[in-house]
Amino acid sequence: MEAISESGASRPDATIDPALFRATLSQFATGVTVVTAMVDGTPMGVAANAFTSVSLDPPLILVCAGKTSDTWPHIRRSGVFAVNVLAHDQETLCRVFATKGAPRFDAVDYTAGVSGVPLLAANSLVSLECAIDNELEAGDHVVILGRVIALHSHRRGKPLVFFESAYTSIRPAQGRARS
Ligand SMILES: Cc1cc2nc3c(=O)[nH]c(=O)nc-3n(C[C@H](O)[C@H](O)[C@H](O)COP(=O)(O)O)c2cc1C
Repeated sequence: MEAISESGASRPDATIDPALFRATLSQFATGVTVVTAMVDGTPMGVAANAFTSVSLDPPLILVCAGKTSDTWPHIRRSGVFAVNVLAHDQETLCRVFATKGAPRFDAVDYTAGVSGVPLLAANSLVSLECAIDNELEAGDHVVILGRVIALHSHRRGKPLVFFESAYTSIRPAQGRARS
């Protein structure tokens, strides 16, 4: 990869260059989610790939919220949110939820979860409904720990994957054929 130095390593005392940091992290393939919440009767959502499982018992996940975001403060205030894991054919929808100021729910159907959060049932593989358990200030992001309160399986399909700053997908393992 061009942006990484020939030796492949930074000096331990060197300042980490933001562009190199970003390029390095782009080698870590992730799934893509849309995090949604119902805020004073209005559905809100934002694209996020900084999502991971944390604990099975109790069931905890985390998401990272950028501090320049307009939507995350509302989601945090609502106290409950859903992580909707996108399918490979949801790139267009993902782009809408990643575009600042875009009207995001104009053409997007949703159903209500047990806590009332909007679930992108027609547009995602699964949704995890979560209550905010804890938050940690972390540089230009806030790490949000979510306690999982309900799981929803919508359809089988290939996942949307983000790798090298681009959208792609992966095939399921052999013997586990998916649509
Ligand atoms: C693939 C992808 C993953 C993203 N992951 C995150 C994330 O984990 N956390 C985050 O705060 N923003 C993430 N973003 C950026 C936000 O979706 C984007 O800045 C959005 O416009 C914020 O909208 P808002 O200002 O309405 O919150 C991601 C964007 C893309 C394209």
